[in-house]
Amino acid sequence: MIDTRRWNIVKNINKSNEMIQEAANYLIIGDTVAFPTETVYGLGADATNKNAVAKIFQAKGRPQDNPLIAHVATKEQLLNLVTNVPDYVDRLIETFSPGPITYVLPSNGVCAENVTAGLSTIGVRIPSHPVALALIKACGLPIAAPSANISGKPSPTTADHVWEDLSGRIAGVVDGGPTGVGVESTVIDCTQDIPVILRPGGITLEELEVVVGKVLIDPAFEKGETKEKPKAPGMKYKHYAPEVPMWLIDGDFKHMQQVINNLIADGKSVGVLANRNTLERLSSEEKVYAHSLGESLEDVAANLYDGLRSFKYGEVDIILCETYQEIGIGQAIMNRLKKAASKLIHE
Ligand code: TXA
Ligand code: MG
Repeated sequence: MIDTRRWNIVKNINKSNEMIQEAANYLIIGDTVAFPTETVYGLGADATNKNAVAKIFQAKGRPQDNPLIAHVATKEQLLNLVTNVPDYVDRLIETFSPGPITYVLPSNGVCAENVTAGLSTIGVRIPSHPVALALIKACGLPIAAPSANISGKPSPTTADHVWEDLSGRIAGVVDGGPTGVGVESTVIDCTQDIPVILRPGGITLEELEVVVGKVLIDPAFEKGETKEKPKAPGMKYKHYAPEVPMWLIDGDFKHMQQVINNLIADGKSVGVLANRNTLERLSSEEKVYAHSLGESLEDVAANLYDGLRSFKYGEVDIILCETYQEIGIGQAIMNRLKKAASKLIHE
């Protein structure tokens, strides 16, 4: 067991902040520190240090074949890690970085080989969260960072989520409050003439098309575990699993009500994850625990992982969650929900 430190940073967020410096020192000596990004909390380590990167895999219980994203603070630092950068990447960086987008490009070997899990390419991104940027600048290193959860669980959007999963396993957590976007970055393969979305995320297909025209979608990404091999190795794993089974309900509130009634009649306790509109229409019953995801699709993205983590084993037997339109950030939401669910129920 490691005695995990916790820093709570609310003001003077810059690389000279004493707490940022303390956290950075752990990274510099080869330890792991979790920190907020605008998407989810990441578990960071020096991306140029193989032993430090190995600690990430160990703390998370992450499969060795799943590569990590290198986080940098500037475009210059990003270009230091890659080669053969197509022109359209320049335009993407100018438009969306810092922000929730990860570029997959040929690696130049500066990062340790376990960052890329042996692939010739590397995922690189410039997060926009001020704490992430200050921390990266304070260490002056590229920071490898997957989401800071135990592998297979929902990603963390608060320092408490990180603590729940990883305290005792990592050197520290920088608490910068809840993250904003709530779903992870869009991972986009930039090794071909036309970019390919490998994982939908914070920057939407529609936004990308405005800047680069045609954008392809990796056909494997939606189906989770399939015969087609996803180009982002992480997309083949079952992910985001809540403590109790979750069913996705593809239908209106009446259909949701029917499924609830049947479960209650069977003596089950039910957790309902839905937006406020839907929840207001459901008749309240004993043994039904509701968690609101807010109103807009942006709210749903921001509240999703906290919602998945809010239902505990022993309190509810099953979680029911509604489906969302797969437009804009809805693509990322539905990608995560399909992976989190054990069953999809159509009307
Ligand atoms: O928003 C995010 O991206 C968060 C924050 C912490 O930055 N990070 C994150 O990392 O979600 P992780 O490790 O949980 O997911 C990274 C995804 C995985 O599906 C992985 O397989 C894919 O990116 N990936 C990383 N490097 C890749 C590469 N070289 N080629 C293809 N896919 C890659
Ligand atoms: Mg993850």
